[in-house]
Amino acid sequence: MEPLSRPALLLLLLLRSAPLAAAVEPISMGIAVGVATALTGLLSTFPTLYCKFQECCEAQWVQLNLTGLKTDLENKLFGQHIATQVVLKAIKGFLTNPTPKKPLTLSLHGWTGTGKNLLSKIIAENIYRNGLESDYVHQFVSTLHFPHPEHLSHYKEQLQKWIRGNVTLCGRSMFIFDEMDKMQAGLIDAIKPYLDYYDNIDGVVYRKAIFLFLSNAGGERITESTLDFWHKGRKREDILLKDLESKVSIGVFNNKKSGFWHTSLIDKNLVDYFVPFLPLEYKHVKLCVREELKARGYEEDEHIITEIADEMTYFPESEKIYSDKGCKTVATKVDFYL
Ligand SMILES: *[C@@H]1O[C@H](CO)[C@@H](O)[C@H](O)[C@H]1NC(C)=O
Ligand SMILES: *[C@@H]1O[C@H](CO)[C@@H](O)[C@H](O)[C@H]1NC(C)=O
Repeated sequence: MEPLSRPALLLLLLLRSAPLAAAVEPISMGIAVGVATALTGLLSTFPTLYCKFQECCEAQWVQLNLTGLKTDLENKLFGQHIATQVVLKAIKGFLTNPTPKKPLTLSLHGWTGTGKNLLSKIIAENIYRNGLESDYVHQFVSTLHFPHPEHLSHYKEQLQKWIRGNVTLCGRSMFIFDEMDKMQAGLIDAIKPYLDYYDNIDGVVYRKAIFLFLSNAGGERITESTLDFWHKGRKREDILLKDLESKVSIGVFNNKKSGFWHTSLIDKNLVDYFVPFLPLEYKHVKLCVREELKARGYEEDEHIITEIADEMTYFPESEKIYSDKGCKTVATKVDFYL
């Protein structure tokens, strides 16, 4: 017998736990399974009904909430005015275009704790009703999923199979690659065809998928530029994407260790947007602590907020403007205080 699909199992459980359970008991398991399977079959012939209960690749589960995206970016992602603007524009343009020519590819750059993972989460939550837990959102962390250089060819094959399989299931799939700077170049080559301007590859259309690449590459350059603005007495909010874009690419491409993975993507213009993340200041760390307290349902205690923000370390040595770890350790520190 074929393994039961999830809805069939659900129905089976419902049947078994119903008040009628006693009466149902004598019915043999086989019949119950048969009934459940038949019902599932029936359900799947009525997609709208089916999709009420089970996540599927339809608008009620997968749809951009632009208001939600805007609100979340404004209220949860601190100190990143460029990322906010770029992402809003990119996501809105891509998701409202019924016939995109290629998948959307965003490359997020910046120091740890500046909000790259948070941004991925915010994007996922405002497109997929199940957010990061959605069956259509896939996360890969280089050091976790692809740790052994000697298994490269296996990883390649597996990754291609996964991307193909998942996009076949849902064209509007999202793939998040974390620690891109630690990924082997060969693995990037394996993904490349899916990012390109193809109408379809072997009958599968990849043009509606979203790819996010996260890395620290370029982080130092971004920090230097931001500090430069500060030294000149210019406002952080006046930093424009173009002030950083060339810096990031220099940082990314000229760094043999972390950079060269990117060149082949750039050469072919497969990355649509660079999204720089600026280093976070004391006041942003305070906002992170405030948000963390709020998210856990605690009162926003100014004393705790200041104390936690004071505990973080700041650089450069002489001026102490930016948090070393951004907001990364805020959650653990809040744990400690509560
Ligand atoms: C979109 O997001 C806003 C703000 O988070 C929320 O109030 C609204 O219910 C969401 N709309 C849908 C259709 O989920
Ligand atoms: C989808 O991707 C996941 C990894 O995120 C993988 O485990 C799964 O097998 C893939 N599904 C298909 C149908 O290829």
